[in-house]
Amino acid sequence: MMKKIAVLAGDGIGPEIIAEALKVLDCLKAECGLPIEIEQALIGGAAYDAMGTPLPAQTLKLAQQSDAILLGAVGGPKWEPLDYAARPERALLGLRAELNLFANLRPAILYPHLVDASTLKPDIVSGLDIMIVRELTGGIYFGRPRGVRVNQSGEREGFNTLVYSESEIRRIAQSAFRIAQKREHKLCSVDKANVLECTELWRNVVTEVAKEYADVELKHLYVDNAAMQLVRCPKQFDVLLTDNLFGDILSDCAAMLTGSIGMLPSASLDKDNKGMYEPIHGSAPDIAGKGIANPLATILSLAMLFRYSFGDAESACYVERAVTSALDAGYRTADIHSEGTAKVGTSEMGSAIVDALRASIH
Ligand code: IPM
Ligand code: MG
Repeated sequence: MMKKIAVLAGDGIGPEIIAEALKVLDCLKAECGLPIEIEQALIGGAAYDAMGTPLPAQTLKLAQQSDAILLGAVGGPKWEPLDYAARPERALLGLRAELNLFANLRPAILYPHLVDASTLKPDIVSGLDIMIVRELTGGIYFGRPRGVRVNQSGEREGFNTLVYSESEIRRIAQSAFRIAQKREHKLCSVDKANVLECTELWRNVVTEVAKEYADVELKHLYVDNAAMQLVRCPKQFDVLLTDNLFGDILSDCAAMLTGSIGMLPSASLDKDNKGMYEPIHGSAPDIAGKGIANPLATILSLAMLFRYSFGDAESACYVERAVTSALDAGYRTADIHSEGTAKVGTSEMGSAIVDALRASIH
């Protein structure tokens, strides 16, 4: 049956990296005869410029009607002065909320080729393979009330609400335990239960859920300690489960362990594994249009799309292996370049993946 991918390139380097992922997708379709169609739509600043809103109704409709969504990146300095509601980032948050994409999977894997690109010592990071499971549709990102008001002393005050219901915690915990069952059977839940009641509930509910997954070893860490452990001894972690805000922060930190944030894909899934796939880096306005961005995070996001939303592990493996082959062959974009390797641009890297893919399928 024909499957549809909504492709939302967005802003900054978004269109450049998406173009490379589409080259890879076209190659896979041609080589393996996959019945997949794509439809592109505007999102973020590009949508705001063209239509006055970062998440136009037709983009949301396309996302809802598609089997999966591939997204580049949104945002940039041009749109920073806009009202909060019109900012490109709202489109991302809007899609996550509207499509109920509560489970955000952010794998942080260190390719052996890039061990020197990490800012940490090789023995601390070599072999690193962590899966961060971030709750994505709740917590302080969405809690109400929120805003900026004038208080009784006539001063402005800003406020946000950290709120999680038991069921929201339970479902993300279940996702994380199931993922741990397919990996090393180790789950670390991160909270701030010593200070925040909401995350004390988080800890209690995760502990209850653990009873259904006796084969997974559960431990809890406070977020400050988890941040320290991530840079002290990251290989102690298998699956890290955390809330929306802590997950945002810890996943950037984990990304850097792998040498470049330009390498890391992500999946945001609903309860039926319909998902949105995007690189975890942003729109990188400083390098946009220069043809030097690393497309690998986006290409690896496409691999995750095949694995999680299409249940097609074979195609996912083809893409992942092609990335390894291109790295084996010495191709490096500027962010991961080191002496003795070939520095290539965005499009050359995409072509290297396509060549590797074609060779491995034949
Ligand atoms: C991320 C990003 C987003 C987030 C921004 C762009 C809204 O940082 O996906 O990690 O905070 O979730
Ligand atoms: Mg982030």
